[in-house]
Amino acid sequence: MCGIVGAISPNNVVPLLVEGLKRLEYRGYDSAGVAVLADDHIHRVRRVGRVVEMENAAIAEKLTGNIGIGHTRWATHGGVTEPNAHPHVSEDELAIVHNGIIENHEAQRQRLKALGYKFTSQTDTEVIAHLVHHYFKQHADLFKATQQAVRELTGAYAIAVISLKQPDTLICARVGCPLLIGLGEGENFIASDVSAVLSATRRVIFLEEGDVAEIKRDSIQIVDAIGAAVTRKVHVSDVSLASLELGPYNHFMQKEIHEQPKALSDTIEQVLDAGFRPELFGEDAEDVFAKVNAVQILACGTSFYAGSVARYWVEAISGLPCSVEVASEYRYRDAVANPNALIVTISQSGETLDTMEALKYAKSLGHDLTLSICNVQESAIPRASRLVFYTRAGAEIGVASTKAFTTQLIALFTLAVTLAKRTGRLKVEKEVEYIEALRHLPGSVQHALNLEPQIKSWAERFSNKEHALFLGRGVHYPIALEGALKLKEISYIHAEAYPAGELKHGPLALVDEKMPVVVIAPNDALLEKVKSNMQEVRARGGELFVFADLDSHFSESDGVHVIRTPRHVGVLSPVLHAIPVQMLAYHAALQKGTDVDKPRNLAKSVTVE
Ligand code: G6P
Repeated sequence: MCGIVGAISPNNVVPLLVEGLKRLEYRGYDSAGVAVLADDHIHRVRRVGRVVEMENAAIAEKLTGNIGIGHTRWATHGGVTEPNAHPHVSEDELAIVHNGIIENHEAQRQRLKALGYKFTSQTDTEVIAHLVHHYFKQHADLFKATQQAVRELTGAYAIAVISLKQPDTLICARVGCPLLIGLGEGENFIASDVSAVLSATRRVIFLEEGDVAEIKRDSIQIVDAIGAAVTRKVHVSDVSLASLELGPYNHFMQKEIHEQPKALSDTIEQVLDAGFRPELFGEDAEDVFAKVNAVQILACGTSFYAGSVARYWVEAISGLPCSVEVASEYRYRDAVANPNALIVTISQSGETLDTMEALKYAKSLGHDLTLSICNVQESAIPRASRLVFYTRAGAEIGVASTKAFTTQLIALFTLAVTLAKRTGRLKVEKEVEYIEALRHLPGSVQHALNLEPQIKSWAERFSNKEHALFLGRGVHYPIALEGALKLKEISYIHAEAYPAGELKHGPLALVDEKMPVVVIAPNDALLEKVKSNMQEVRARGGELFVFADLDSHFSESDGVHVIRTPRHVGVLSPVLHAIPVQMLAYHAALQKGTDVDKPRNLAKSVTVE
């Protein structure tokens, strides 16, 4: 949430800052701003709305400078207004951008007001600006002043600071929110994620919890949380610029839906190469898996639904008990810890605060067997976990997760089968069957993508609906949940999902001819039960939109529309059925004219509570 970029260079940094903010816009997009130092002044441009509006204003004002910071905001403290947009300035001398939430901002605000500081925004960030300024007056050293100021903050932050009094220095610090330094030749950069600096450099240093860094054109100094000088490893990013471009597509979500055959085969490739072996999850995995007698999955949003599918797989395939819980709930409950449970956190970004805090909480309860399933190398959650499986989805920019979800399913399926090998539940013929299922999946997904014209025509019928119901059973119930989430988050149509067996315990009361009911109905063991549930809907006038596979043997009839995915793909059927529900949501959103990649009020990366 919120994106930060900064640069110090012999050249004008404004184009890089603006370009970087456009790349970071998926993190938050209600307002944007940049501040540069030039002619002994702080020049600042801020605008409510998208980065492009701020860019136009910066061009009109001919903004230039050799050092600057920029920010794209997802409002937490204070409404979406220009005074609340970052950068914030203290005493016309110092500018700051911030990602995160300062929990003790009110106490600090009172203290700083008493010291004579005037506040012009409702943000918690302005507190940091004045606090750093206050200590800068005492130290005359921006690095030291920032170190002292952040010691007095509680909460989560990534910040970047510049000052007129030290115009050759960019300071940054982080706790709980991601921040990296990009290393150039005679110039250096900072950013919330590598996409923002990739056009300038691939060499990056990921700051660690509590780090504060002083960045000049030719040097970098980093101190850790206790102020000791540290050296952090330099990574060479393998994120491709092409993966951050739209190419021939209209939206990143559309692009990412269509990238799934490749994302899946890239992720599956590592499994096919290694087989269902613990090493896939890290060097230590053999030892860890040997101790595991249960699995506890923690995640948020779409990742939580991936975990919900996995619960069916883990129990059915490995025989180990498996629970799945929303991370924001788990972290605040008096959970009973089983130290032999494998804690599995799932996070596309690897930086979702609630998931990170749930992991920390699990560790505090004595859990030592931890695995992260993540799509972003070197992000915080995998770094805090003993084992990691990186999905190979490539950069996911659309706020609504698609290819990250289906590749997470591959990771989780692989985990279930690998654990089954350990528990002795995996028969050789099943192992062969699972390998074959993985091998054929990308091709089946490609076939499912070809259903797009039919799904688009369904979506046209959804655009004037206010509500929709999704039904599924067993391992496809979480796919119904995911379908409903997708539809509501990008088309703003209210959608709910139920296990079809629950229909008559409440939701059936909502069904009439105005209620479209989407059913996930592949040919699995529960198909006949689902068919009975569908009769219950039809008897009440509800219109059915059924995603079946070729083996389900459904025929269209009045009020019953059927789209058939390819032949039943067995145990991996939930992955295949994720595709049509993604396309349905995408096309319904297009019909409604919403901003598909940046739905209102949401953000891709949720680094606040
Ligand atoms: C946000 C995103 C969702 C995502 C969820 C969890 O809500 O909009 O698409 O599923 O965060 O994110 P994570 O990065 O932890 O998977």
